Amino acid sequence: GSRDKEVMFKAHDFLAKLYHHSLINTRQGEKALEYLKQRGFTEEIIKTFQIGFAPDSWDFATGFLQKRNFPLDKAASAGLLSSRDFDGKYFDRFRNRVMFPIWDHKGQVIAFGGRILGEGEPKYLNSPETKIFHKGKFLYGFHMARSHIRKKQQLVLLEGYVDVTAAHGAGIQNAVASLGTALTRDQAELIRRHVESVVICYDSDKAGLNAAMKASEELGKAGCYVKIARMPDKMDPDDYIQKYGAERFKSDVIGSAQTVMAFKMDTLRKGKNLSDEGERIKYIEEVLREISSLEKAVERDHYLRQLADEFSLSLSALKQQQFQFYKQQK
Ligand code: GTP
Ligand code: MN
Ligand code: MN
Ligand code: MN
Ligand code: MN
Repeated sequence: GSRDKEVMFKAHDFLAKLYHHSLINTRQGEKALEYLKQRGFTEEIIKTFQIGFAPDSWDFATGFLQKRNFPLDKAASAGLLSSRDFDGKYFDRFRNRVMFPIWDHKGQVIAFGGRILGEGEPKYLNSPETKIFHKGKFLYGFHMARSHIRKKQQLVLLEGYVDVTAAHGAGIQNAVASLGTALTRDQAELIRRHVESVVICYDSDKAGLNAAMKASEELGKAGCYVKIARMPDKMDPDDYIQKYGAERFKSDVIGSAQTVMAFKMDTLRKGKNLSDEGERIKYIEEVLREISSLEKAVERDHYLRQLADEFSLSLSALKQQQFQFYKQQK
């Protein structure tokens, strides 16, 4: 019931403070703090995002919760502790990890993402689905970003925790992340309730590109106006900011985001030699297929004209061909 939830919120709040303290004020947190500083985390970011460290111990959190008379079974069903199969004894679920608290939209901690220091599997250990944490309904950083999203009339959608913290440090405070899963309809609708304009800046790899396309569809269905930002191959926003700095990230990545269609056209162009007739025709057909999948007639018309202009083709021929593709899709 709601009493259970209250206990779960309390346990999260308490452990978030404890992990944060363990990172910034204790000997056992030193190597994690060093790791974060090497990665460009400032003290301010660490404080703002209440980043912490779960020491390499089986009973750090368990012991503290026990001392404060928290019901350990509730802490376990909140995903904070695990229990041994053979005797049911509780132990810490998060060990030797940098801890990112995850907040609900009111700012209550409802889950954690725990990163391993350096290499290893799994890279991130996240809280499981619980009574208070439904992954597909939240966006990381949303409660902090909300006022900035309103002010800028734009939301920047990223992939990972560290992308959000780095973007925030770079002055892009209207950034949130979809917690590593595909953007859900609930998340898209949550976004649309606050803002119309969204810039997606997912990792520049195949998985990120596919996820960006899916997210843009979901956001489009929810009624958002979407742009996609491009980064050099294999980079994510955090990598980019560490390498090229905040200003270039703002101007060359976020500020240069393209409409989804322009982005797709650029992607289709890559690796093609458009002065070759055969490749040019292939490109035009691929673009026509994309145009035929657009929802809005005005948009279809816009890109058909653009294509006609660029390749000196008759608009009516393009329309005819596009309509063929359109029928094939139905
Ligand atoms: P860093 O390597 O710390 O910079 O993290 P990243 O955010 O760049 O990681 P990556 O691009 O691989 O993944 C993006 C997001 O997916 C992360 O922030 C996590 O939320 C999630 N994720 C990544 N790896 C794992 C994993 O091993 N398990 C789970 N459950 N989630 C993961
Ligand atoms: Mn990964
Ligand atoms: Mn990735
Ligand atoms: Mn990444
Ligand atoms: Mn990264």
